[in-house]
Amino acid sequence: MKGIKIIGTGMYVPETVAANEDYMKIVDTSDEWITQRTGIKTRHLSDGEPSWYMGAEAGRMAMENAGVSPDDIDLVLCTSVTGDYYTPATANIVQGKLGIEHAFSIDINCACAGFVYALDMARRYIATEDDVNTVLIVSPENITKLVDYTDRSTCVLFGDGAGAAVITAADAPFYSYLMANGYGADKIYAQSIRPGNAFTNREKAERFQELFPQGNEHYMYMAGNEVYKFATTKMPEALQKACEKAGFTPGDLDIIIPHQANYRIIQTAAKNLGLPLEKFYLNIERYGNISSACIPICLHELRGQNRLKPGDKVGLVGFGAGLVFGAAVFEY
Ligand code: ACO
Repeated sequence: MKGIKIIGTGMYVPETVAANEDYMKIVDTSDEWITQRTGIKTRHLSDGEPSWYMGAEAGRMAMENAGVSPDDIDLVLCTSVTGDYYTPATANIVQGKLGIEHAFSIDINCACAGFVYALDMARRYIATEDDVNTVLIVSPENITKLVDYTDRSTCVLFGDGAGAAVITAADAPFYSYLMANGYGADKIYAQSIRPGNAFTNREKAERFQELFPQGNEHYMYMAGNEVYKFATTKMPEALQKACEKAGFTPGDLDIIIPHQANYRIIQTAAKNLGLPLEKFYLNIERYGNISSACIPICLHELRGQNRLKPGDKVGLVGFGAGLVFGAAVFEY
């Protein structure tokens, strides 16, 4: 099987940092509640940087880190669910800003599992298409623009930033398992502009309004408890299935990078897998939940700390709005 290798990574986070204490000024909350229930202490918030900018900065760093030039990139995949425009795709904008001329570019909307989905897609293109050898994945998120700052149960959870990685064809094993449960689409959502035009028959249009009625305008709604239960069962399931494909067990993994949504979710997932928490890389305390950017930022930090050694078995696992979940396992 033609496999893939991650040869470069990058990240970008905005300068502004909000601590738990800052949220106490706008909603009825406490550092103690946020720390105990989520593990989050601080998060970076966009100072107006759009998603494309954060993606381009992280992508540039990943290309430099990999030692490749824009001409080496055959495909750009962007996993942002918080793009700046309905059209064009954020991937197209990032491609242009990075001067990548001989490539095609695609957006993938798979929320917090986006980076795992993008890796899977990169591998499939690399394995089946002779003209795709090097792929740039960018995962920028401006998720705080969807946050309702009057809703204490969601506003404290999210931050902004971007991660990126350069993937190339290699004789290295890579396995992934992806799944979606669309019946749970109403468990996390943010609504776009509603359809309608100058000639819309309002009576008829009403039939289609408010498919998912909770929440406010375009703000993010989340059924926290249900997502929590989903995550603690589906993260272990995804890792187990990906490992089965690879012919080993989750216990054989040297390091696991989980989506950083809630410290307690990761703790419970580790327990359900019968694995020590030490196998899981955590940076949620510093960044909060940055949706699809979480996993590539973790990867970049681990590489920067020289914590990944050649031959290490690495597991990535994500879940999010959709509801979607997925895992990837590979040898570093
Ligand atoms: N400060 C103080 N109290 C709070 C806060 C807050 N920030 N938020 C909620 N509470 C209160 C609630 O109002 C409730 O009070 P009540 O008992 O008087 O009604 C109490 O705390 C308990 O609320 P729960 O919702 O049961 O708290 P829980 O322990 O479940 O934590 C949380 C909530 C953190 C949202 C958790 O459910 C969670 O992490 N869910 C999963 C979120 C997730 O994984 N999202 C990822 C996907 S995001 C994406 O895809 C883009």
